[in-house]
Amino acid sequence: MESLPLQLSNAIDRQLASLPSNKLRDACFDLSQRYIQGQLIKTQLHRQAYMAARLPATYGATRQVFRRIESFLNPLKTLLDLGAGMGSLAWAAVDAMPNLHHITLFERDVEMLRMGQSLTLNNLDPVEIAWCRDDITQALSFPSHEVVTLSYVLNELSPKELAHVVHRAYEAADKILILIEPGTPKGYSNILMARTLLINQGGHIIAPCPHQEPCPLAPAFKEGKDWCHFRVRIPRGTYHRRAKDASLPYEDEKYSYLVVSKGDQAPTADRIIKAPILKTGHVILDLCTQNAQLERRIVSKSEGELYAQARDYDWGDEWTG
Ligand SMILES: C[S@@+](CC[C@H](N)C(=O)[O-])C[C@H]1O[C@@H](n2cnc3c(N)ncnc32)[C@H](O)[C@@H]1O
Repeated sequence: MESLPLQLSNAIDRQLASLPSNKLRDACFDLSQRYIQGQLIKTQLHRQAYMAARLPATYGATRQVFRRIESFLNPLKTLLDLGAGMGSLAWAAVDAMPNLHHITLFERDVEMLRMGQSLTLNNLDPVEIAWCRDDITQALSFPSHEVVTLSYVLNELSPKELAHVVHRAYEAADKILILIEPGTPKGYSNILMARTLLINQGGHIIAPCPHQEPCPLAPAFKEGKDWCHFRVRIPRGTYHRRAKDASLPYEDEKYSYLVVSKGDQAPTADRIIKAPILKTGHVILDLCTQNAQLERRIVSKSEGELYAQARDYDWGDEWTG
């Protein structure tokens, strides 16, 4: 479960307090319909709906990705977030990166930027926050930072813009580039496109793939059967429940991601790419392996300690058994 930091959750509550619940609900419904039809945020009510219903989910996905690469992030000090929206990634970064001291956020929509500024103002001290209003598809280059991120943005770009932005983002990343997209076929397809470009540019994949070979799920994806994605559970805050008229206290957000490093990295372990299936007497794990194969590993009770460990593993974990 990835909960919003209390300060952020309180700031959202304050910003949305005066908005009647029925208006917020309608705006959320309208926004999700727009996303389904490939349309983007248009009105201030859509932005408020984004703050209530989507920001907690993108925060959760980002926070979980950061947990998966904690050891790489720990020493890093500067971060550039492109298409920052209301800055949810900055909050996750401050949580995850103990040595972070500067974040630059690029955002095209001035209202999103203003809302993000008011959420972050004085709340992320002592990390310096610089907001820049800019269209990332027009930039010839971005300022260098140790980490560069694009979270839920590639989805909003054309293939040509995606190639331009990913190329420039990689150039600007001194150490690591992180891409996160919705865990939909389109999100995976954008990640796949970026993956090929980045490997050709000399990038080394840190996660989720434990290899640099073509994605072994790509053939199943072409047949419309499967794609690589993960899941994070998000608790629903007051505004979140108001927005969705929801009774469940949580929801699941699916996402796809890619982390690419500029340095040579030791290969990572096999990755669990589906929810483990717990049966009486055995656990079924679906793995993407270091030799770029899809493998089903059945860990049975007779394997003793390994079986006990396997029961605690989750979708998205590295499998070291
Ligand atoms: C779905 S939101 C994601 C926001 C944020 N990254 C997050 O994870 O919550 C996409 C954001 O990208 C911004 N965006 C889309 N195209 C852009 C561009 N060409 N230049 C700058 N920002 C852009 C949008 O204005 C919007 O705020």
